[in-house]
Amino acid sequence: MQKFAILKAQKTTKSRNIVIAIDGPAASGKSTTARLVARKLGYLHLDTGAMYRAMTLRMLWEGIRLDREDEVARVARETDIALVRGNDENRVFLQGKDVTEEIRSPEVTQHVSTVSSYPAVRAVLVEQQRKLAENGGVVLEGRDIGTVVLPKADLKIFMVADVAERARRRKEDLRRSGVEMGEEEVVREIMERDRKDSSRQTSPLRRAEDALELDTSNLSIEEQVEFIVQAARDILRKKS
Ligand code: CDP
Repeated sequence: MQKFAILKAQKTTKSRNIVIAIDGPAASGKSTTARLVARKLGYLHLDTGAMYRAMTLRMLWEGIRLDREDEVARVARETDIALVRGNDENRVFLQGKDVTEEIRSPEVTQHVSTVSSYPAVRAVLVEQQRKLAENGGVVLEGRDIGTVVLPKADLKIFMVADVAERARRRKEDLRRSGVEMGEEEVVREIMERDRKDSSRQTSPLRRAEDALELDTSNLSIEEQVEFIVQAARDILRKKS
């Protein structure tokens, strides 16, 4: 039995609610930015990476061999992931347990690109993502949102940043959650994940042709957020 996504797309009659897709490589700042953009616009924030991470954690819990695509696919179809709106950020539940912190562990990070490369896993999660976005008023972030999940999104952003800057941010995030990792190891992990995510056959990480590229290497979070909110407001103005 599958039960997904307690987050509810708001049913609304307003045509003013658009869909924003934010894609980009590992640690490019998508999550923080998407969360703040969603808050400013009063939209739903959907972190699709968290769904792939939760799926990976389930495989680790069950001791599934990750090179056995058929086994991974079978368990994926029986996995219960729920995103629940919290005060500040969404909480992630796996089989009824809050795993919001656990899905950021180095072990999950190490294996998530393998699990997410399987078409059956993607099919299960993409269906849920589309359902949540169908009424608009949502900011989705991931790797394939603008290219595959919602190719008709009203606004597409492709976020990039220097690998050194991304590693610095990731190291900081890890330190805050009590994990110390050396700079070199973080750079290696980021580059390896980007390589796997960009070279897989199904829905590889790439910039949609109509996406705006946003290089955040030298931008503050506020500037990033402002750029996207302005672009969204321009679209909303044209629509009204
Ligand atoms: O936050 P970070 O940049 O580390 O990555 P994430 O957004 O949490 O995504 C974790 C992993 O999930 C990625 O490295 C991809 O392998 C996978 N993913 C994906 O395949 N498709 C998505 N739409 C989102 C994430």
